[in-house]
Amino acid sequence: MEYLKNVDLESIGIDRKTLEKEISSLSSIKDVNELKVKYIGKKGIITELYGKMSSLSVDMKKQMGINLNKFKTEFTEIIEEMIKKFKDEELKQKLENDKIDVTLLATKLNIGGVHPITKVIDEIEDIFISMGYDVVEGPEIETDLYNFEKLNLPKNHPARDSQDSFYITDEYLLRTQTSPVQARCMDANEKKGPIRIICPGKTYRRDNDDATHSHQFTQIEGLVIDEGISLAHLKGTLEIALKKLFGADREIRFRPSFFPFTEPSIEVDVSCFKCNKEGCAICKNTGWIEILGSGIVHPNVLKNCGYDPSKYTGFAFGIGPERVAMLKYGINDIRDFYTNDLRFLKDFNRLEGGEQ
Ligand code: DAH
Repeated sequence: MEYLKNVDLESIGIDRKTLEKEISSLSSIKDVNELKVKYIGKKGIITELYGKMSSLSVDMKKQMGINLNKFKTEFTEIIEEMIKKFKDEELKQKLENDKIDVTLLATKLNIGGVHPITKVIDEIEDIFISMGYDVVEGPEIETDLYNFEKLNLPKNHPARDSQDSFYITDEYLLRTQTSPVQARCMDANEKKGPIRIICPGKTYRRDNDDATHSHQFTQIEGLVIDEGISLAHLKGTLEIALKKLFGADREIRFRPSFFPFTEPSIEVDVSCFKCNKEGCAICKNTGWIEILGSGIVHPNVLKNCGYDPSKYTGFAFGIGPERVAMLKYGINDIRDFYTNDLRFLKDFNRLEGGEQ
């Protein structure tokens, strides 16, 4: 390969063979840079020749100038070409070394799924959020005042027995229901104005665990307070919510019941989605499934929380996500939710088409 063919190297005192050898033996960017410095660096051969030009005659100066400029231009081109060549080679090498073997088997990642209870809570939250409700949470360690007294369950009230409690001290207990959150919200509402909330969370009772009882479970409380709220609002709201949750074809049935914090109190049933009221094991041959408790907020509860019962009325309800999940997904033992057996959770997610 011949370099600098058009440059009169002899006239600037450079031996063509030596230079050609120097160029062809370059093997790295470092070599290239060294050669560059040798010729056109600050103290390089060519730079020094430029410096010496002042001592030459005008003619020679001119000739020398042309030769040196030619050299510098072509030499710089060669240097840049070489740098590019080595850089390309380096990149090629790198790409080759970093090659990904796409045929290698992927590492299987264990991705978790959404727990069935969380799924049901999310679903119920979405239904009520779409109707303009806020989601509110309260403490799991609750006072006797909020868990019972404000909810019209004074000390020694017989209905307290049905909510066998884990007391921590005389005043503090693990909440037995999410209903205290409604009392807390009414208390905290300084303007004593309208409220529209649902309150999901964990609750605790001293039950012996079996297929249908768990000492820890979840509840979702709902509360609407405003002027002129009636049973019609309760019925309409719950009918819409339950049809969204269990299917548009479901029928909803309202039955009188008793809760200390509501008057009247109402229990709500959904027509059995398994047998469509024909009678089966799920609905215990009744055609109906009991799904939640509800009612018109008792005037005492409104008063206890600073609301004027002659101005405001409201409705409340409480629903158990475990029961909903058991019904919706055909789960027979409530303990399955809490023993965290991965085979159950994986199975559930597979049924739901989720990750395993
Ligand atoms: N807290 C009740 C329970 O644990 C459920 C409930 C029933 C809540 C009726 C309500 C309601 O707000 O109105 O059994």
